[in-house]
Amino acid sequence: MQTLALKSPGRNARAARVRLCDLDELPVGLGRAFVVAGRTVAVFRTRDGNVFATANACPHKAGPLADGMLVGHQVVCPMHAFRFTADSGECDQPNVCAVTTYLVEVEGTAVFLTLPAA
Ligand code: FES
Repeated sequence: MQTLALKSPGRNARAARVRLCDLDELPVGLGRAFVVAGRTVAVFRTRDGNVFATANACPHKAGPLADGMLVGHQVVCPMHAFRFTADSGECDQPNVCAVTTYLVEVEGTAVFLTLPAA
């Protein structure tokens, strides 16, 4: 797991954008965890070329979503196989709250993540 620091998070920081890695460093169909400014984020690269990011801790019982498999644009938690939608973070099970999602942008070969202000 790679740990990245924000260059100038500041005391009254707004959203912060950080370069995570090169696109080729994200395995297709799987996830990879990064620690960014103290938050563990799971980043996924789908088979059709999209990249998305969620909090790594599953909202059910904190399973590591980065270790889950992708089915289309859903990540399947490795603990109990609940599924979370990439864009909204919604869960396919009733009474389980959505996982936090983060903005990911690919520019050329670089992958950037935007974290909201803490
Ligand atoms: S911990 Fe993720 S589905 Fe239970």
